[in-house]
Amino acid sequence: MVALTLQARAAPGPSTDDAIDVVVLNPVAGREDARAATALLSDAERHRASRFVFDRDRDRFIVARARLRQLLGARLGTRPESVALVYGAHGKPALAPWLADSGLRFNLSHCDDVTLYAFSRGHEIGIDVEAVRVMPDADAIAARFFSQCEQQAYRALEPRDRPLGFFQCWTRKEAFIKAIGDGLSYPLDRFDVSLTPVEPAKILRVEDTPGDGCGWRMESLSPAPGFVAAVVIGDRE
Ligand SMILES: CC(C)(COP(=O)(O)OP(=O)(O)OC[C@H]1O[C@@H](n2cnc3c(N)ncnc32)[C@H](O)[C@@H]1OP(=O)(O)O)[C@@H](O)C(=O)NCCC(=O)NCCS
Repeated sequence: MVALTLQARAAPGPSTDDAIDVVVLNPVAGREDARAATALLSDAERHRASRFVFDRDRDRFIVARARLRQLLGARLGTRPESVALVYGAHGKPALAPWLADSGLRFNLSHCDDVTLYAFSRGHEIGIDVEAVRVMPDADAIAARFFSQCEQQAYRALEPRDRPLGFFQCWTRKEAFIKAIGDGLSYPLDRFDVSLTPVEPAKILRVEDTPGDGCGWRMESLSPAPGFVAAVVIGDRE
């Protein structure tokens, strides 16, 4: 397991503690790990685990969720089993209200054997990770899900740069909709993100507001060879 601390670029206005604490778990699971980890889960989580069709997916969920409880417990000074979670209207997990007073916020993302956890103090946060790969239907997906501005930037890329550009765009958009908690109920054409290899990770626009004033900031990282990830954090508590 690797722990990273990203310092989000300084926000205009009063200074805030905007460190982003990212933990990378890779590889996630083996059968023995999952057996031991089950003890840390709640009844509801065990029930969810029992509904996975494939053993491998179930084991990954169990280990990743137990690790989330351990990471939250260590930051809250409580036992992993005592961490209570609630879910937003679109499924975003959060600490139960009596623990949320700690200010701790988190989000997580899985891809293959890599799980990323992001933590912050007092700022909503979203994270997404993907393996960069060639997808035959990437152009069609970009045409359907990317905003006009993103589609233009994507189409202008050299063919060799497109897989990276595609997944940079995808993870950045996902990290944003996960930070706000709306998931895919937030229309993906209402905001633009940077995606080319030469630009820093950035929110360029949210609805009618330029990215710099939108209240959210973005960082990118490469958590493992062949993977890209993005984190979005709120400016205000
Ligand atoms: C659920 C969703 C929020 C992310 O799903 P995903 O990218 O498939 O999966 P990830 O591994 O990145 O994230 C899953 C984790 O996000 C968290 N999560 C679930 N709903 C969430 C929400 N509304 N907001 C933030 N986080 C959420 C959960 O912790 C979940 O992991 P867990 O179930 O093990 O606890 C949602 O955006 C989705 O279904 N996306 C589909 C992909 C897509 O079409 N993207 C278009 C981008 S251009």
